[in-house]
Amino acid sequence: MTTVITFGTFDVFHVGHLRVIQRAASFGDRLVVGVSADELNMRKKGRLPVFSEAERLEIVNALKPVDEVFVEESLELKREYILRYDAQVLVMGDDWAGKFDDFGDICTVEYLPRTPAISTTALIEKISSTS
Ligand code: CTP
Repeated sequence: MTTVITFGTFDVFHVGHLRVIQRAASFGDRLVVGVSADELNMRKKGRLPVFSEAERLEIVNALKPVDEVFVEESLELKREYILRYDAQVLVMGDDWAGKFDDFGDICTVEYLPRTPAISTTALIEKISSTS
């Protein structure tokens, strides 16, 4: 059995999130998703997510291709998470291209092209500007 792991915030869930999860699942038999902790998002993006960590986990966990979810507490723990969930494939968006090649010693690393013209940040801006 091949386990795939991927990571993200998945805030204000949109079709780009769905597609990366569907494509990640196609690399194996079991998909594990690390959903960024609120605190990690604060450090990484300088703002709290719109939806809480518990809500984002609930949404991602309800998706058909997802077998297991966990809270990603730190960007520095990726190696530990890959080993803990016994993942043979790490999938990341190509905004991270090349950044995780070091994990090639423990798994295959796949970078997937992002869905064009959609992001949580753009959605938040669009919604704020129309209210
Ligand atoms: N993703 C994607 N296509 C998009 C947006 C996101 O494939 N248009 C992927 C990312 O590459 C990542 C996952 O979805 O693998 C989660 O990304 P996340 O950072 O949570 O979403 P963004 O919409 O990029 O959020 P933000 O605008 O806050 O950076």
